[in-house]
Amino acid sequence: MELITVKEKDYSGKRVFVRVDFNVPLDKNQNITDDTRIKASLETINYLLNQNAVVILASHLGRPKGKPDPSMSLQPVAKRLSELVGRQVKFAPECITSEVRKMVDTSKPGEIILLENLRFHQEEEENDENFSKSLAEIADCYVNDAFGYSHRAHVSIVGITSFLTDKAAGFLIVKEVNALSKLLENPERPFLLIIGGAKVSDKIGMLRNLLDKVDTIITGGVMAYTFIRANNWETGNSKVEYDSIPLAKEIYKEIRKRHLEFHTPLDHVVADKIAEDAHYFTTERGTVPIGWTGVDIGPQAIWEYTDCINRAKTIFWNGPMGVFEIEAFAKGTIEIAKAVAASGAYTVIGGGDSIAAVNKAGVADKISHICTGGGASLEFLEGKGLPGIDVLKK
Ligand code: 3PG
Repeated sequence: MELITVKEKDYSGKRVFVRVDFNVPLDKNQNITDDTRIKASLETINYLLNQNAVVILASHLGRPKGKPDPSMSLQPVAKRLSELVGRQVKFAPECITSEVRKMVDTSKPGEIILLENLRFHQEEEENDENFSKSLAEIADCYVNDAFGYSHRAHVSIVGITSFLTDKAAGFLIVKEVNALSKLLENPERPFLLIIGGAKVSDKIGMLRNLLDKVDTIITGGVMAYTFIRANNWETGNSKVEYDSIPLAKEIYKEIRKRHLEFHTPLDHVVADKIAEDAHYFTTERGTVPIGWTGVDIGPQAIWEYTDCINRAKTIFWNGPMGVFEIEAFAKGTIEIAKAVAASGAYTVIGGGDSIAAVNKAGVADKISHICTGGGASLEFLEGKGLPGIDVLKK
């Protein structure tokens, strides 16, 4: 896929509107608890600063439903970004007022402005034409570096490009698109898909599209319990996405047709409740006894899954193997993280929980590519085409 990129343009003295995904987690005191997404766009920001552009950064944070909400302000991000780039980041308390325009007009090349949360205006999500025009008026050109938001056909991703026709992809977008495209186009085999966690219905489209590419699939978490249930096996009180069972049954058929290797866990850690002080034990088989809840994969499953990982040359992992936030139920997910990191395969990880798991296991630096966008990476692998990427194609 050939994209228009920042590399082929001259930004000297230009006002550049840069859409970033600074949708970072904040604690109740509005401290940033993970700045990965801010760091991920530094390459593009620094590149534009070195080119002497006026850099106007815009993002959303959270889901404020079209109204200002101080708990979702981007102000803490401006502070963290200042530390990371080693220069002042001016914070604009709005994104389209005359005050913002004045701030931009009085800025000198090499200065950075961060606009307040775009989602404080409902027009952002409606891809509203007037809002697109107002945002576009403060800049000369447009750069998208918000991979994690590029599946949203919103003003700052799509609408604005009708008015700022000088547009390009930032370094992060290029990196993400290249890494994910490698999975879709001719991956080295065997290609292993590790799919776990909840939100089964969000992931099933990706699973379906990858059936033609992968050799092996291993499952954990709610994904696994849903497939076990689709086979009419006992899942006890484990969380199952019942609405997805018909789709899971169809996928089983497709898997058989293609002779793919497909695994649900051979054994489980099961608990009487999901809590630190739960009673728990390991089952001897791949079903969950009545009255108990599956919370992790067991040792036999870890052994079998590690064997699949060791045989793979390409691995995509989305979703944990259990409730890894609780120490006693984290072993399966952590062992999978370590095995993926040690595999020597081309490894791509997407989804907040799997990223948290490789961080917890201390192996994030051994993963070939960690996606900054969970939903966006799933839709990309679903083969749907992302609106934000489509507008940047050559
Ligand atoms: C994300 O966190 O996945 C992106 O920033 C998109 O956010 P959204 O799901 O609220 O649109």
